Amino acid sequence: MRDERTLDPGAIERVFGRYRSLVSSYDAFTDALLAPLPAVVWAHPTRTTRDELAAHLAADGVVSEPVPWEPSALRLPGTERPGLHWTYAAGLYHVQEEASLVPVRLLDPRPGERVLDLCAAPGGKTARIAFALNNRGTVVANDRSAARLAATSAAIGRLGIRNVTCTVTDGMAYPLGAGRFDKVLVDAPCTAEGTMHKSSPWRREPHDFRRWIPGVQRALLERGLRLCRPGGRVVYSTCTLAPEENEAVIDAVIAAAAGRARVAPVAPIEGLPLSPGLDAWEGQRFAPEVQHAVRLWPHLGRTSAFFVAVIEKDADAPDEPTPDESRPIDALAIEAGAHPTLARFQEAFGLAEDELDRHRVLEWGRYARLVPDDHRMPAHARHVSTGLTVTRNRVRGPKLSTGGGMSLGRTASRQVVQLDPSAVARFHAREPVPLDEVELVDCAHDGYVVVRTGPHALGLGRVVRGDGRDELVSEFPKAWTI
Ligand SMILES: C[S@@+](CC[C@H](N)C(=O)[O-])C[C@H]1O[C@@H](n2cnc3c(N)ncnc32)[C@H](O)[C@@H]1O
Repeated sequence: MRDERTLDPGAIERVFGRYRSLVSSYDAFTDALLAPLPAVVWAHPTRTTRDELAAHLAADGVVSEPVPWEPSALRLPGTERPGLHWTYAAGLYHVQEEASLVPVRLLDPRPGERVLDLCAAPGGKTARIAFALNNRGTVVANDRSAARLAATSAAIGRLGIRNVTCTVTDGMAYPLGAGRFDKVLVDAPCTAEGTMHKSSPWRREPHDFRRWIPGVQRALLERGLRLCRPGGRVVYSTCTLAPEENEAVIDAVIAAAAGRARVAPVAPIEGLPLSPGLDAWEGQRFAPEVQHAVRLWPHLGRTSAFFVAVIEKDADAPDEPTPDESRPIDALAIEAGAHPTLARFQEAFGLAEDELDRHRVLEWGRYARLVPDDHRMPAHARHVSTGLTVTRNRVRGPKLSTGGGMSLGRTASRQVVQLDPSAVARFHAREPVPLDEVELVDCAHDGYVVVRTGPHALGLGRVVRGDGRDELVSEFPKAWTI
């Protein structure tokens, strides 16, 4: 909900008046900055399709329309809280601003690459990268703030992401021994002028932050370039309009790289208006290649403002002298199929034979985490987590986690409870569902079951019989309820 102060024309003029000369119609520009934008969601690439998701949302009374330039995404005009649907809790989609989809598209991560997301929290772009790699290989999601990274961990569990290591380290000093990356995303902290529709200009008025943040942005981008292998790609993005945080940062970094990195042109994206980077600002002239960067202006497309630059590191640039000390996961963790707890769950729930193939299990305190066997962990950074938590050890014995149940439970053939769509809301609200309202699939004994609706695994429950209680008890985590 926007703050009343958003409507203060004086504040808007103080923040945005300086961009008058850059836009054809200043009124159209400020109107677009303040206008509410439709929520945008993207469909999980293996759990559903955009059309199926649209149908599920329509059944919940939500109107959607395809994002013309991104085949997985839907706009939800008229929906203020897009995360309040069972399909969200089931990890069938993620909510992300439309403009925020552009940096990862231009990063173009591919299966087999090792990718660093230097400023990752809350993690929407990390999730896009993870799926672009087919949920295998390595994504390192770093942020300076552990608190903000908690949202990334939640998304990892809900979406069943297995190929991410989260670290909490100052990106400006990210350890060079962490290993080389084929691609690096620097989605930098910024004054966020482009997201005015969500908050208030008073926060963006000139203050100290505006003065010192370009130095941080430059240091983050320079570090990202050093961590990128020769011939690799770095994408720098912000959600601000300020040229000091955009073109000026790119200009300085390219000049310091002295020919070892260049700003690459961006191919047009049909259905999304992209404008070139500025050639000059307040008397400072930028290198011509800075215009290869792209700006999304709110009055030209239906998005918030964004700035994205693609920087390619010369294939002949000298590699960092610091040795690569990243560690392959297979040196640290056992084969998933040979992990006794997972083997037990595979048998108990009748999971598909190949479900754990080419994965390792990393023991992490009370948790077992599922990680693709081609993952390489970064060295020297402060680790928070690696992979998907699949089991948790308790005094009474290990339990499949909700994220584990949602990820592995699609192929379960035993101990399954199939819910009618009308009962799903009760499961997510942690209310019991009488057993005569559900379908039990090969439930040979009471106790833990995988709960599904159609093919979608929702998490875990317990079948309880006797004492007048023939019911499915929801084990859906309180923190995930919608
Ligand atoms: C624009 S947000 C990133 C959004 C994220 N990429 C996403 O798509 O969800 C910028 C992030 O940079 C983090 N940050 C700020 N200074 C940092 C630093 N020195 N090193 C690493 N992260 C930093 C902030 O905590 C914030 O989460």
